[in-house]
Amino acid sequence: MANNSIVIGAQWGDEGKAKVIDYLTERADVVVRFQGGSNAGHTVSVGDSKYVFHLVPSGIINPGKICVVGNGVVFDAEAFLEEVDELVKAGVSVEGRLFVSDLAHLVLPYHKALDAAFEFGLGAAKIGTTGRGIGPAYADKVSRVGIRIGDLRDWNAFCRRFVENIASAVKRLTTPEGGVPDLDEDSIVDRCYKIRQRLLPFVKDTAYYLFEAERSGKRLLFEGAQGTFLDVDHGTYPFVTSSNTTAGSACSGAGVSPQTIGNCIGIVKAYTTRVGNGPFPTELTDDTGFHLRAVGNEFGSTTGRPRRCGWFDSVMVRKAVQLNGFARIAMTKLDVLNDLDEIKICTKYEIDGKTVEQFPTTIQELERAKPVYEIMPGWKQDISGCKKLSELPTAATNYISKIQKLCYDVPVLLVSVGPDREQTIEVASL
Ligand code: IMP
Repeated sequence: MANNSIVIGAQWGDEGKAKVIDYLTERADVVVRFQGGSNAGHTVSVGDSKYVFHLVPSGIINPGKICVVGNGVVFDAEAFLEEVDELVKAGVSVEGRLFVSDLAHLVLPYHKALDAAFEFGLGAAKIGTTGRGIGPAYADKVSRVGIRIGDLRDWNAFCRRFVENIASAVKRLTTPEGGVPDLDEDSIVDRCYKIRQRLLPFVKDTAYYLFEAERSGKRLLFEGAQGTFLDVDHGTYPFVTSSNTTAGSACSGAGVSPQTIGNCIGIVKAYTTRVGNGPFPTELTDDTGFHLRAVGNEFGSTTGRPRRCGWFDSVMVRKAVQLNGFARIAMTKLDVLNDLDEIKICTKYEIDGKTVEQFPTTIQELERAKPVYEIMPGWKQDISGCKKLSELPTAATNYISKIQKLCYDVPVLLVSVGPDREQTIEVASL
């Protein structure tokens, strides 16, 4: 079997994927983003330094590793170049080790304006998007009117396409105040021209690059963004993002064959969070929810919005195992539960008086789902310094084992007990 892994969030995103990717990058040569865009916020802490990535694969902080932004990503070039500048300022060289697919679609300022306008139009039913223009950029892509990074190579063709697209966007736009936003075409074109000079050296046929990389024995690591339940097909539609966030999308979003994939690793937070709107059966709106948010620092790394917090939901994670075929699970933020007297795990739902063990496929059913809990004792001690499984209190290992058992017994690969690289307990091997 191929030695290449995909890392996927098993909940609604923000599971702490970046830390696990950083850990797994040690065993990889090339790290690949394949969906989403600058809506993602991947944070890695190394010693006193903290890095937040939105578009650049988080593997970039590991010297010598190659990072690829695949065709399935919607690409905000200005955001990307700002991230590159930040990295260079922090002493991280990207020269010759960061590549972007020429087939990835550009997110342009009018996509962000459309994102805001659509949200405004939805009123109380709004999705709660990150405002990064993701939905409108993917909509242009599937409507076959998008502009791809490779189009920047032929400046005249790019300008022709741009003029058509902005005209059509302006027709569709209303601002929150009801008027048309000020989208100065000339200044956007000027910005694109400047970006083009800096961006083109990063651009290549990344699918071919990955094919050759694999052929020459390099190990690939695919970095999922968002989480399983934000998948546009399998998630809690319409409260989802606009890409497929589940494992299958790594192939189409990077241009690699299914044979390339060796296994998929699911990232689960030891509790559940969600940012944005939509049903959340185990949500806690009481003091425990506030406690989890405060201790877990549950504020969006892209928008700063407070995240909604709740108990671990095994009905969801079982569904994530079914959809992604996790070979291993990595559990993050276990230390956030340190002070709790008791910890609840949702084992099933009750919907209209019936017990349900399988995640419902309609949002209407999910909205009526009441969680059924098993209560576990807390460990009431600081575990953030534990280095081995044997150093964890029994209540903590029981909690991990219970979750593993409820989730098809997928082995736990590692447990994270703090944001730093060192605060990682290896449990099983890959
Ligand atoms: P969009 O991706 O900006 O269109 O937002 C759609 C939904 O996905 C909203 O509920 C967002 O809060 C959520 N979302 C998008 N990206 C992330 C992420 O990286 N983490 C968590 N939620 C996200």
